[in-house]
Amino acid sequence: MSHADFGQPAGLPAATVFDALGADYERAFAGSAAHRASLDGLLERLSPGSRVLDVGSGTGRPTAQALAGAGHRVVGVDVSPVMTALAARQVPDAEFLCADIRDLPLADGEFDAVCAYFSLLQLSRDDQKELLGRLVRAVRPGGRLVVATVPVDVADVDAVFMGQPVRVSSFGAAEFTALAAGAGTVVEERQSTLFTPDHPAGEPEPHLFLRCRRV
Ligand SMILES: C[S@@+](CC[C@H](N)C(=O)[O-])C[C@H]1O[C@@H](n2cnc3c(N)ncnc32)[C@H](O)[C@@H]1O
Repeated sequence: MSHADFGQPAGLPAATVFDALGADYERAFAGSAAHRASLDGLLERLSPGSRVLDVGSGTGRPTAQALAGAGHRVVGVDVSPVMTALAARQVPDAEFLCADIRDLPLADGEFDAVCAYFSLLQLSRDDQKELLGRLVRAVRPGGRLVVATVPVDVADVDAVFMGQPVRVSSFGAAEFTALAAGAGTVVEERQSTLFTPDHPAGEPEPHLFLRCRRV
């Protein structure tokens, strides 16, 4: 018998979850100092006018805003129409597409950098592995992949995120780092932190930030 039989839907699609959350997500998470530090580390390594893909761009803040504000050419992709519209309004200097990243064609080496901050968690583990490989190949050799996740060893677990039922998969920190390296990168920096979202249900959660260079 499924959860739905008890009126408790299993994980909602990412688009539904983030359409419902909208700007509440930014209020809860945009205060992360580690996220800012990760962006600073990327900005220091980008040449002027770099082309950057932001996967799961959310509200556009802080990631696309920081990159576009520094003069880079940013394309954000998000499966949530609400998030995409919000990002386009908040960061008019970047381009935003509403699409599932799994369906978006990516040419080899077309970006100087690709970011994916906390946007893989609603994908299955197999999809995350496959996507990491595609994202690395979309970066030119020598370019950067910056990826952040909640490093917990879970597969298809039902959880509640900011009041929304979600199905989550992830990897422990060592395994996730090994996956990024195995996808064809050198992991240049790995930062682990605990972050408490600014939300009534917010509890400390582990965050892992990787900055990787495509070999
Ligand atoms: C946890 S939020 C993070 C937003 C932003 N990266 C940040 O750190 O502020 C995850 C975002 O990824 C998007 N997302 C989830 N799965 C996606 C997919 N398969 N394709 C594109 N976007 C996706 C969600 O709609 C949401 O806006």
